[in-house]
Amino acid sequence: MEPPSAPAHRQHVPWHRLLLAVSLLSFWNLPTAAQISIESVPFNVAEGSDVLLLVHNATENILGYSWYRGERAGNNQLIVSHRVDNQVNNTGPAYSGREITYPNGSLLFQNVTQNDTGYYTLLVIKNDLQTEIVTGQLRVFPVLPTPIITSNNSNPVEHEDTVVLTCEPETQNTTYMWWINNQSLPNSTRLELSQDNRTLTLFNVTRNDTGPYECETQNPVSAARSDPFTLNVIHPVAQPIIEASNTTVTEHEDTVVLKCLTNDTGVSIRWLFNGQSLLLTERMELSQDNGTLTIEPVRREDAGDYQCEAYNLGNSNKSDPLRLDVKFDPTPGSSSGLSGGAIAGIVIGVLAGVALIAGLVYFLCVRKTGGASDQRHLTEHKSPDFNHIAYSSLNFNAQEPKKPTLAPPSSTATETVYSEVKKK
Ligand SMILES: *[C@@H]1O[C@H](CO)[C@@H](O)[C@H](O)[C@H]1NC(C)=O
Ligand SMILES: *[C@@H]1O[C@H](CO)[C@@H](O)[C@H](O)[C@H]1NC(C)=O
Ligand SMILES: *[C@@H]1O[C@H](CO)[C@@H](O)[C@H](O)[C@H]1NC(C)=O
Ligand SMILES: *[C@@H]1O[C@H](CO)[C@@H](O)[C@H](O)[C@H]1NC(C)=O
Ligand SMILES: *[C@@H]1O[C@H](CO)[C@@H](O)[C@H](O)[C@H]1NC(C)=O
Ligand SMILES: *[C@@H]1O[C@H](CO)[C@@H](O)[C@H](O)[C@H]1NC(C)=O
Ligand SMILES: *[C@@H]1O[C@H](CO)[C@@H](O)[C@H](O)[C@H]1NC(C)=O
Ligand SMILES: *[C@@H]1O[C@H](CO)[C@@H](O)[C@H](O)[C@H]1NC(C)=O
Ligand SMILES: *[C@@H]1O[C@H](CO)[C@@H](O)[C@H](O)[C@H]1NC(C)=O
Ligand SMILES: *[C@@H]1O[C@H](CO)[C@@H](O)[C@H](O)[C@H]1NC(C)=O
Ligand SMILES: *[C@@H]1O[C@H](CO)[C@@H](O)[C@H](O)[C@H]1NC(C)=O
Ligand SMILES: *[C@@H]1O[C@H](CO)[C@@H](O)[C@H](O)[C@H]1NC(C)=O
Repeated sequence: MEPPSAPAHRQHVPWHRLLLAVSLLSFWNLPTAAQISIESVPFNVAEGSDVLLLVHNATENILGYSWYRGERAGNNQLIVSHRVDNQVNNTGPAYSGREITYPNGSLLFQNVTQNDTGYYTLLVIKNDLQTEIVTGQLRVFPVLPTPIITSNNSNPVEHEDTVVLTCEPETQNTTYMWWINNQSLPNSTRLELSQDNRTLTLFNVTRNDTGPYECETQNPVSAARSDPFTLNVIHPVAQPIIEASNTTVTEHEDTVVLKCLTNDTGVSIRWLFNGQSLLLTERMELSQDNGTLTIEPVRREDAGDYQCEAYNLGNSNKSDPLRLDVKFDPTPGSSSGLSGGAIAGIVIGVLAGVALIAGLVYFLCVRKTGGASDQRHLTEHKSPDFNHIAYSSLNFNAQEPKKPTLAPPSSTATETVYSEVKKK
């Protein structure tokens, strides 16, 4: 090994022994009035960042210094000792590898954790072997995550339920604040905060308590606000009203606009046509909130009773039916665009129908006398339970035509069905 350099030779006492001696000495001699002071820069430190324990008023003539964890200069709590003349330092059991010393006595702490919170003691040895001890504080706080609001009841019932909202997570050294509709909490006997403000209780909720709610967390190094939270307060839904642009309209020409009016908030709308859920055609359009139904152009099959239904998770209410009358176009062909062929087809179809009905009437009249006996036969068999007999007769007759071998009786049977139904 190379001999130590000349200046180092002057010091015969090993450095760590000197420090130990001085430490023991400091127990005997109460430190003189502390001129030196320690400042934590910044004062409150966010976890994961760096902090400088800055030493003020360190005099020029210092021999060296030592940093300790805790409020005392105990050797088992030594972080590092630094000798000024040769800039040599000596780490101790409390050294974490994240500390850096500077010639002026200051200590840089890197990547601090909440575990680094606490007191740190600096022992300064002057050239005259006088010592000074000073203690400083390091305060490390977590960077708060975005809080979340949780509720004990996701679908509270109006005037019945009490809702407890909690701001999560629970962290130490954190203040909690609440906002309703972006405003601070109103004075209300129905609102109650826990002692730490982390839970908000709403007694006997009403629909006006829907929110949105936000909670905010703060500590000395950070602040965070939750996403808005909305309460789904279930109430008796009032009856909505339908408003129509016109209830008597002309086919193909007119547009109908139906509006569902409701004073309830937080309700959804659905539409009914003749008591059934409305099937949307390509001529129908719903507004984004489903509150307005537009039919363009209107057709005769759109005539009927319309209702709208307002509903939430717990309740619903239907409007009174609104009747839509659709008049047929008085000038077919002009706007309806029916071709001559189509019109001819319709005329032929109608004529054919008339002929068929006439034929049927004739057929029935001719057969009337022949069927009279069968009719009487049935009447004779009538028990006090008329409906029961009539029903079984119908059943019997309906099965009869299925037998091909009994062709003649089946024709009389058909007539019996007709007369029996007519009687009822
Ligand atoms: C430095 O020491 C002087 C004298 O003791 C004192 O008045 C002053 O407050 C000290 N400064 C700091 C930053 O501690
Ligand atoms: C040791 O001293 C050197 C300067 O000689 C300095 O750069 C380094 O940060 C010191 N180490 C510790 C752990 O303080
Ligand atoms: C800081 O410390 C944490 C553990 O405490 C470690 O996971 C992280 O990598 C460190 N960051 C840096 C930049 O050293
Ligand atoms: C906190 O620091 C102390 C002393 O350095 C150590 O013993 C302990 O294990 C640390 N705790 C955690 C959770 O890092
Ligand atoms: C943080 O809270 C803990 C527990 O309540 C307490 O012991 C500690 O002193 C607090 N830290 C600060 C910097 O206030
Ligand atoms: C709310 O209540 C506090 C005391 O409970 C009172 O000092 C304050 O004036 C009230 N604010 C309003 C707006 O009523
Ligand atoms: C909640 O309602 C109950 C019953 O209606 C009533 O007795 C109670 O006083 C109400 N509480 C508040 C805080 O209004
Ligand atoms: C709780 O919040 C109120 C304001 O809503 C505030 O005056 C009070 O100081 C807070 N309490 C705590 C412990 O943060
Ligand atoms: C809700 O607020 C409105 C307007 O302030 C009020 O007229 C209504 O009575 C309130 N409803 C309930 C259930 O408190
Ligand atoms: C409704 O529509 C019909 C047919 O288009 C029209 O004659 C009538 O004037 C309309 N009524 C109203 C109130 O607009
Ligand atoms: C909404 O409230 C107003 C005022 O109370 C009332 O005139 C109107 O009829 C209500 N509308 C519905 C759809 O209930
Ligand atoms: C509107 O109604 C459709 C079904 O017809 C439904 O899927 C949609 O969610 C409704 N929209 C609203 C805002 O209620």
